[in-house]
Amino acid sequence: MVDILVVVVAYLLGSLSFAVIVSKAMGMADPRSYGSGNPGATNVLRSGKKKAAILTLLGDALKGLVAVLIAKCLLDAGNITEVTVAWVAVAVLVGHMWPVFFGFKGGKGVATAVGVLFALSWPVALICTIVWLIMAFGLKISSLAALVATVLSPVLAWYFIDEASWCWAVLVISILVLYRHKSNIQNLLSGKESKIGGSSK
Ligand code: G3P
Repeated sequence: MVDILVVVVAYLLGSLSFAVIVSKAMGMADPRSYGSGNPGATNVLRSGKKKAAILTLLGDALKGLVAVLIAKCLLDAGNITEVTVAWVAVAVLVGHMWPVFFGFKGGKGVATAVGVLFALSWPVALICTIVWLIMAFGLKISSLAALVATVLSPVLAWYFIDEASWCWAVLVISILVLYRHKSNIQNLLSGKESKIGGSSK
């Protein structure tokens, strides 16, 4: 029973779309109405409000981190299993991508996945973050940097994480993040993908 409850709470926590919440709190337009239409930090940055983008990034990453850290505490206390922690990791991402509070129209999951990864395995998260930063600053294309780090994450997980169900969770999360970047992949292939801070597509 505790296992199911924890997974449901993780989904609800993931459903808090910080791009929409922060934008509303700061009197800005809904990020789903401009740029790529994605409620995420990259698109909020297109509004020109760096502070809002940073708060969005932190909020979306922290909810992933907090959900999995709470699950790991419950695991240590013997209340849930390792497999439930894996389900929590996936559930918080599903909440972010298809949020019950925002008409199931959520984001692409990069920041939340980073938060989840830091809680599951900080070396995996750190390497992915460094790869993202190098790619993002070098090429100035957020989605491409995210796609490369996303593809890398399950490979690193298999190397650094002992618990098989957590490796599977990272694989499922990376597939979901790739799936949510369908339009970005099409734009990249046709050379139409916008740069970081660029106005819109
Ligand atoms: O994290 C989302 C990013 O990879 C792409 O965002 O707004 O350019 O579609 P966006």
